Amino acid sequence: MLQCIATVCYNYVCEKRNKSSTIASMRTNGASHRPILQIHDLTKHYEEGGQSRSILNRVSLQIETGEFFVLLGKSGSGKSTLLNLISAIDRADEGRVMIGDTNITALDEKRQTLFRRDHIGIIFQFFNLIPTLTVLENVMLPSELSGMSRHNIEQRARGLLERVGLADRADAFPDTLSGGEQQRVAIARALLHEPALVLADEPTGNLDEDTGRNVLRLLLELTRDAGKTLLMATHNPEIVPLADRVYRIQDGKLVQTVDHTPVVSVLQGNRA
Ligand SMILES: Nc1ncnc2c1ncn2[C@@H]1O[C@H](COP(=O)(O)OP(=O)(O)OP(=O)(O)O)[C@@H](O)[C@H]1O
Ligand SMILES: [Mg+2]
Repeated sequence: MLQCIATVCYNYVCEKRNKSSTIASMRTNGASHRPILQIHDLTKHYEEGGQSRSILNRVSLQIETGEFFVLLGKSGSGKSTLLNLISAIDRADEGRVMIGDTNITALDEKRQTLFRRDHIGIIFQFFNLIPTLTVLENVMLPSELSGMSRHNIEQRARGLLERVGLADRADAFPDTLSGGEQQRVAIARALLHEPALVLADEPTGNLDEDTGRNVLRLLLELTRDAGKTLLMATHNPEIVPLADRVYRIQDGKLVQTVDHTPVVSVLQGNRA
């Protein structure tokens, strides 16, 4: 949690920098056959109590622009670790992560932060809103130094809050919002800068079933249905039939699930 807040805050104080045209050009509406994410031989272990624990062992993967990709795996299998390596919140032992044409693993920490701020949207299980900022300020924060004018950022933030049904809570503080409402704020925050890649780590994991369903429907409307690439780690089996591809992390490897047919009707009829 603290690391995530620190990341958002660090984004805030970083210098202005323009987005690279390579990634900007990938923001299409609809799936294309250009890979937005390529992972090559990614390896990660942790040292604990003098012992080495292997978490990911030479994991490789390619995700196309516009795909909705679901990542399963039992608790502790390495889902969050993989998402953190992709966004460069954490460092791999070996291997490479390409987002668009950028090898994010090769960038220094400051450039990784800037790249993340400009091109990746991240949604966490525990929302990670900053309690001392209002809803509107939370949504605006990561984009504040992106080069966009403040007026433009605020307009987009208000527009997104409208989309997630929270326009009338713009001036409220996060602790006065329900879990589902806080997650909707976090979704608006993650999408404001129109990221090429959206990473969601158990976005419904902390919500009751109905609220989770509504948040998921909204997230899919704003990402997959808008042609954005969404990579989601989840334990929720309801999500599986909605995905374009489903993989499981097992013993440090990525394994494709076989019995999976996309069905788009599961969430229909559940309005927020
Ligand atoms: N900083 C760390 N130091 C040591 N071990 C760690 C560290 N971070 C994660 N781990 C370990 O790595 C393994 C994978 O953790 P990770 O959080 O990626 O699992 P996960 O699949 O996301 O699980 P969950 O479904 O419970 O969220 C776990 O055994 C965890 O304890
Ligand atoms: Mg996790």
